[in-house]
Amino acid sequence: MSILDKHQILERNATLLLVGSLLVVSIGGIVEIAPLFYLQNTIEKVEGMRPYSPLELAGRNIYIREGCYVCHSQMIRPFRDEVERYGHYSLAAESMYDHPFQWGSKRTGPDLARVGGRYSNEWHVQHLIRPQDVVPESVMPAYAFLKETQLEINDASAELKANRAVGVPYSDDMFANADADIRAQADPDADTAGLLERYPKAKIGDFDGDPKRLTEMDALVAYLQMLGTLVDFSTYDDATGYR
Ligand code: HEC
Repeated sequence: MSILDKHQILERNATLLLVGSLLVVSIGGIVEIAPLFYLQNTIEKVEGMRPYSPLELAGRNIYIREGCYVCHSQMIRPFRDEVERYGHYSLAAESMYDHPFQWGSKRTGPDLARVGGRYSNEWHVQHLIRPQDVVPESVMPAYAFLKETQLEINDASAELKANRAVGVPYSDDMFANADADIRAQADPDADTAGLLERYPKAKIGDFDGDPKRLTEMDALVAYLQMLGTLVDFSTYDDATGYR
């Protein structure tokens, strides 16, 4: 019996063909998926990434609460037009501490993955109070109330603990200092040596323009100002050759 004849047996028997197809598809599936179980990590490590500081994390929560992600993505794709407009395409490692991540393709407004440092704090505050004051044609809604809303801190470490439970490497030292750190980051006169040691490159200052109060505006602007600033792309070895 030739191989062709043997194959005819399969082709003429629907049940046998079905079982055979299933077998082949399962082998293909296992070959694709099984190696992932043996990898320590599917995310390439990159220098500079650290967990969010308590103030940045509070700002991120406001960002999510207010639905900023409905109009803004944080994912620069490796296409020339995006890289020229927004900067180096996003690396997986840059959102390794994001729970939930802020990727997306819905861009009513620009991508914000690298907006940190692009504008001054004053610009952000003005823009969030009334976007049309700085960008007349803007369709972005106003968030003026953030500047009037005291940032509520019951226990800043609780937020860090929740993140550690899902794998973000917050230390006990970070828990112990969470309440102090959240205040120190928005206070230009505070001693921030410890804060900077725990959260290198953290932007420090009075973000909302009112040094007497710690508002939701402080937290949100602190978050926006750090986006995309942790990895130094002038030293990043870009093996894929884009840019
Ligand atoms: C209804 C859609 C919409 C929502 C919701 C929205 N934005 Fe925007 N955003 C825009 C548009 C459109 C622009 C571009 C025009 C402008 O700069 O105002 C923009 C611009 C921006 C910029 C300037 C980006 C740049 O590179 O110039 C920042 C920062 C920003 N938004 C932050 C936020 C934050 C923070 C929130 C949530 C509190 C938010 N946006 C919610 C539509 C939106």
